[in-house]
Amino acid sequence: MIYPFEDRVAEDQRLVAQGQVFDPLTRRLLERAGLVAGMRVLDLGSGAGNVARLAADLVGPGGAVVGVERDPAAVELARRRTDAANVEYRVGDVQTLDGIESDFDAVVGRLVLMYLPDPVEALRRAASRLRPGGLICVHEADLTYAPAGPLTPTWAQAHGYFLAALEKAGIERRLGPALFTMFRVAGLPDPELLVELFVAGGPAAPAWAWANVIAATVPLMELHGVATRAEVDPPTLADRLLGETLAADGCVLGPPMFGAWATIRR
Ligand SMILES: C[S@@+](CC[C@H](N)C(=O)[O-])C[C@H]1O[C@@H](n2cnc3c(N)ncnc32)[C@H](O)[C@@H]1O
Repeated sequence: MIYPFEDRVAEDQRLVAQGQVFDPLTRRLLERAGLVAGMRVLDLGSGAGNVARLAADLVGPGGAVVGVERDPAAVELARRRTDAANVEYRVGDVQTLDGIESDFDAVVGRLVLMYLPDPVEALRRAASRLRPGGLICVHEADLTYAPAGPLTPTWAQAHGYFLAALEKAGIERRLGPALFTMFRVAGLPDPELLVELFVAGGPAAPAWAWANVIAATVPLMELHGVATRAEVDPPTLADRLLGETLAADGCVLGPPMFGAWATIRR
């Protein structure tokens, strides 16, 4: 298991907040890929339930969503946050999908393949849980793309620590651009692709979102000797990042999010 975030409470807050930046992009992707009312959807690595809730909204009361998540605490949080009757969360491993039925109209997943030991096999298994003609649609990042323009010193340093920690932990930082290849290696049809990123300037620019994820990887940085907590200084990081961006009249960028989707005919 290579999921790197250890502090469950902080991780819950991070996953909920992350939705504010990524959910509009994921909604557009799911709509473009063809998620429509009445579908029965499997959400891989459902975390705090952000994508499952989006999917539930798109499929409506006549459809249903099953979220699969390895961490029981995240499943509890997702259940507490979701009042829609058409969403169910289960504790399970998306690498194997053991015990998951095979009649879904769609399988979706965001920012989960990057943490799996064998993402290609996970794609294959996900496709095997679809009815013939079902849709597979995944949304993954390129975390190496510059997070701010201009890339001022604190941004460059903190982002550099983050990337180094992920690399040392063996986490794929550019899974988004690899999706087309992965679909092919998995023996799936060539996917359609869509890339979008979040960008904003001014005081509302989400430096906090980067500060959150960078702070969450401090244990990993310390484990691998990349940087110390004191060097990252998580309590002041968001303010320092935003301060530099405002001083430079710059903007904050989310990672480019690559959507890939295909219809599976068997
Ligand atoms: C970055 S979060 C993304 C959560 C959600 N998809 C979203 O976009 O808001 C990744 C989630 O995948 C879960 N995860 C990682 N490996 C998993 C596995 N093998 N099986 C099930 N869930 C897994 C983590 O526990 C975490 O909740």
